[in-house]
Amino acid sequence: MKIDVCRKIPEYIETLIIIHEENAKISELELLDVDTIEAIENFVDTEDYHFESSSIRSFNRMIGKKPQNVIVAGAGDKTKLDASILRKIFSLCWCEANRMKADQVYLMFGFEPTLPEMTLGHVLAETAILNAYRFHKYLSEHKNYEIESIHLIFFAKTNRHLNSGILEGRIYAETTNLARDLVNEPPNVMNPESLADYAKKAALQYGFPIDIYSMDKLRRLKMDALLSVGKGSKTEPKLILMRYNGNPDKKHHTVALVGKGLTFDSGGYSLKPGPSMVSMKSDMSGAAAVIGTLAAIATLKLKVNVLGVIGAAENMIGSNAYRPGDIITSMAGKTIEVHNTDAEGRLTLIDAIHYALEKEKVDCVLDIATLTGAAVAALGKDFSAVLSNDDAWYEMLSKASEACGEKIWRMPLHEDYKELLKSDVADLKNIGGPLAGCITAALFIQEFVQNKPWIHIDIAGTATRDKAAGGEIAGATGVGVRLLTNLIRNME
Ligand code: BES
Ligand code: MN
Ligand code: ZN
Repeated sequence: MKIDVCRKIPEYIETLIIIHEENAKISELELLDVDTIEAIENFVDTEDYHFESSSIRSFNRMIGKKPQNVIVAGAGDKTKLDASILRKIFSLCWCEANRMKADQVYLMFGFEPTLPEMTLGHVLAETAILNAYRFHKYLSEHKNYEIESIHLIFFAKTNRHLNSGILEGRIYAETTNLARDLVNEPPNVMNPESLADYAKKAALQYGFPIDIYSMDKLRRLKMDALLSVGKGSKTEPKLILMRYNGNPDKKHHTVALVGKGLTFDSGGYSLKPGPSMVSMKSDMSGAAAVIGTLAAIATLKLKVNVLGVIGAAENMIGSNAYRPGDIITSMAGKTIEVHNTDAEGRLTLIDAIHYALEKEKVDCVLDIATLTGAAVAALGKDFSAVLSNDDAWYEMLSKASEACGEKIWRMPLHEDYKELLKSDVADLKNIGGPLAGCITAALFIQEFVQNKPWIHIDIAGTATRDKAAGGEIAGATGVGVRLLTNLIRNME
């Protein structure tokens, strides 16, 4: 999809989008020819349309023998127009343009938006590319339609800021779509080995080094928690290590991004009921977010050092699978009594986190995981749950979230609930009971972060959407890529 800025209105416009402020007059749009102004004015009059915030209308007309689509969208109060409202408006516009089968879109504002040009360009490109995303590689029949080009008619002193915003928005969207592609792959295609291959492919394409550890190496490292979870699968677990050293001077400061990489979660012997098992190919969404983020920060050439870590495994049943009652020794040496084989994510994460701290000497750890149904029950599908032992770092994440629109909500990481993880026969058990599941899962992980700054993001609800919304298709959302990229940026 081509996206650019243009300063001249062409003679013929196939699809015209006008975003205007509430109760604005069309007649004041000097840029347009009299015919177009009249046509739009008549339309909004008969429709009694007033450009209310995030509203949209459209019509077709003929210009001579050529048809034209006209879309009018409301920005509401122009002084209140910020990135998040603009995101909503643009998404509506792309939706409507899709419905009208638009190919060449020209978009203009009826007023001068006050938000930074960089932001405007970013939001424009990002929303357009995210909206165009489809996953149809397994459909024998599908339409290949997508908007061909979007031209923003805009008169800035220079196009520099708009253009770098567009470029940035494109990077954010394309790396998010990379994550979506990985999550949408079915579990007969995406297993721990192929996830490692996909990560390798991304590393090659985006130019960052990668190491992949197989069974032998994992045994030598004593990563028995990760290995136990993967024992029931015929595809062996892998540890995927992605490196990005954008700041060689500050070698000592490295942040680890640890993604949960369960390519399928049947629940193991604590088997999931059918309806909740069917979506469990998405249990590697944390891993996809980390791969997407590495791709984004490498493209943006951020001056930071990041280690991406994924413990990839498949949670299956079989004579070799781990059982409820098993006591396993994590890489950190702490023993864990398995009370529920479906609480497997935390087991893979703690070995990955311990490896990052102990062997790679990272300074702080962020993990991102489709970890608990409890997070979905508490916050629904729109907010990722966040728990952290570091207020200042959490604040940075909160700023990152506001800037990109990926919503988060902080949950209490309270000591009192640690009691729930006590076992009679091992140092810990892997579940905390039916209450506060999102919190006890985080408390379990906290036992392995060695008091280093740590953020835990539970994306069980936000990683997928059940039905198409806001112009985006159902399935993987690619959540985390934009959030983590913004966070890492704030840490530059
Ligand atoms: N992968 C699931 C969590 C999940 C649930 C992700 C719904 C996406 C949507 C995780 O491994 C899991 O099974 N968690 C259990 C933990 C419980 C056994 C303590 C859960 O939430 O039920
Ligand atoms: Mn599970
Ligand atoms: Zn899981």
